[in-house]
Amino acid sequence: MVNFDELRAQIAQEFKEVETLDVLNELRIQYLGKKGKIADLMKQMKDVAKEEKREFGQAVNQLKAETSALLEEKKKELEAKALEEKLASETIDLTLPGRKPSHGNLNPLHLIEQELEDLFIGLGYQVIEGDEVVDDLYCFERANIPKDHPARDMQDSLYLDPAHLLRTHTTAIQMKVLEEQAPNPIKVVCPGKVYRRDDDDATHSHQFMQMEGLVIGPHVPLSDLKGTLEFFARKMFGQEREIRFRPSFFPFTEPSVEVDVSCHMCGGKGCSTCKGTGWIEILGAGEVNPKVLEMAGYDPNKVNGFAFGIGIERVAMLKYGIDDIRHFYTNDKRFNETFDRMD
Ligand code: DAH
Repeated sequence: MVNFDELRAQIAQEFKEVETLDVLNELRIQYLGKKGKIADLMKQMKDVAKEEKREFGQAVNQLKAETSALLEEKKKELEAKALEEKLASETIDLTLPGRKPSHGNLNPLHLIEQELEDLFIGLGYQVIEGDEVVDDLYCFERANIPKDHPARDMQDSLYLDPAHLLRTHTTAIQMKVLEEQAPNPIKVVCPGKVYRRDDDDATHSHQFMQMEGLVIGPHVPLSDLKGTLEFFARKMFGQEREIRFRPSFFPFTEPSVEVDVSCHMCGGKGCSTCKGTGWIEILGAGEVNPKVLEMAGYDPNKVNGFAFGIGIERVAMLKYGIDDIRHFYTNDKRFNETFDRMD
């Protein structure tokens, strides 16, 4: 005879101990499956004495109902537990720092260019940019560098055809401005890219940037040039800077000077940046050659003026301590980010 109470207790205990849905499914097959224990009990009905059949049948049905209820209950419990675990493992940690979107930033050459423009606009200069492809006329002839002049050799250059080339210096803009403005006064700076045939190394590039300065008027003393460049040197390299003029030669200025700034690294005592001299050569300048004025349409007896040419890479390298000019052009994000002004 089947002991239903014992069986009920055993089933209840087994369901109680189940911890996973897989094991629960095994139990379901074991008891409620087609070949399970309860189906087996049903089959035993035929051996049960006639007067006990009814009671036996009721007991088996009740056991089946109870077992099904236990199964449903446990299934719900385990499913809820699984969902809870899933939610817990997938929670978003709001305390994690976010990912910053990366933004571009200006190349240090543009930063220096802007700084220089601000500085000269503050002194009443106008900013004028010219074409990068220029006539031989403005690049050389008008700058008093005729066809066979040796000064051409130093800039022998990137020609598009015999009469046109990529400008070799911003002095080409100066010559165009002179022609356009004659006979009026001028006060301009002209920044831009220039191109020369050159062997690239740590301090030379076939493409670089300059800023030309030009002041023309009825009486422009050379001391104005000195005051202007002193102002520039102090703004860019510190208030204690001194400048000095050394005689030099450029075909388009007469007299011409090479301008040195007292070294901002050692204060003038001598160090590796200034090669022990205390001075750093920074730019070329001079009084605009009367011949140049005349060619552009000015009367050199009525007006005079000065011009200067600043190398933007040189200023940036000195100011920021950059030892290789090629860093400016290789687009290494880490280099440009060093000069980020947006953070
Ligand atoms: N054009 C010269 C060069 O590229 C730089 C220069 C020197 C410009 C003296 C000037 C100047 O205006 O007065 O080497």
